[in-house]
Amino acid sequence: MAEVVDLDRLVEEARAAVEAAASTEAIRAVAASVTGKKSPLAQAGRALGSLEPEARKELGRRLHEARTAVEALVEARRAEIAAAELARELTESRIDLTEFIPGSVAAPAGRGHLNLVSQTQTALEDVFVGMGFEVAEGPEIETDWYNFGALNIPPAHPARSMWDTFYLDLGAPESTLLRTHTSPVQIHLMERAVAQDLLPIHAVMPGRCYRRDTPDARHLPVFHQIEGLVVDEGITFADLAGTIEVFTSAYFGPDIHSRLRPAYFPFTEPSAEFEVTCTICLGAGCQTCSQTGWIELGGCGMVDPAVFSAVGIDAGRWSGFAFGFGIDRCAQMRHQIADMRVLTDNDLRFLRQF
Ligand code: FA5
Repeated sequence: MAEVVDLDRLVEEARAAVEAAASTEAIRAVAASVTGKKSPLAQAGRALGSLEPEARKELGRRLHEARTAVEALVEARRAEIAAAELARELTESRIDLTEFIPGSVAAPAGRGHLNLVSQTQTALEDVFVGMGFEVAEGPEIETDWYNFGALNIPPAHPARSMWDTFYLDLGAPESTLLRTHTSPVQIHLMERAVAQDLLPIHAVMPGRCYRRDTPDARHLPVFHQIEGLVVDEGITFADLAGTIEVFTSAYFGPDIHSRLRPAYFPFTEPSAEFEVTCTICLGAGCQTCSQTGWIELGGCGMVDPAVFSAVGIDAGRWSGFAFGFGIDRCAQMRHQIADMRVLTDNDLRFLRQF
């Protein structure tokens, strides 16, 4: 007859050993000593073979219960220790995860810079300020009158179709629209000059413009222009041509030339297109300049007397010239950007170059 084993005592001893364990390593060792092959429970099991069937069955059942109880104690303690160790790691650990949140000393937030178009606008303003121009701005939402009417483009004039835009309330008595060019700022300036007796005017007017244009290598539906307006006594076409030539070499460098080609704008007479040598092929002809060697930068001309009369300026005393060209187009030419669309793609690999 095998020695009667006090299983309750074994379980209590195992409980004491388990509770005394204070680390992962300790509970692993205790688990082996209370449930492993050499544990008192395993040894008690060896007595089973020598027992009568009934007694074997009974001891087997009690052994199973004791082992289940001990294993549950081990598991509970293992979980307690793991939770305590994790908590200690989080509070005492020297790795402070908050250090890696952007903006901290360890991970300073990257500093951005102005988009190339904004940089180009400032550079253009600088050139014109150096030539004696002031800088003015006007609204991006215009009335039909400022964008078209006052610029000698009455309703149904064919020129409206090439400056088609986004109408905000088409059909209203005074419909408003997103301006298609910066030329309406000319009207605002002249009206103010008349009202406040501020003539003469020598100003450039940069700003955003909108058109129903399909994006391609040289066009964006939202782009930027810089307008120029001089109203003074004795202004001639030579002043206009000279101003454009001085600007071209000041901004693009001595190898880039300008040329004026006859054109039509309802608000200038005579009118011209202002082109500069294609900086990508230096005049040889390439895809960007449609093989012409020239890139159109903008339009210009002598202020039409009809415009002077719309704003109440005496065309008998005053004359003037105006021009308007693309800021994005300037950036494209100055930095040899084959396709203008990259300016608005927001690809940092492109933007970081400037
Ligand atoms: C005008 O907008 C006239 N207001 C210019 C003007 C001003 C003429 C004063 C006479 C006196 P035009 O539509 O050609 O003209 O545009 C002028 C320039 O703006 C173009 O040469 C080009 O450089 C730029 N531009 C026009 N449309 C776009 C576009 N969709 N994307 C990028 N640049 C554009």
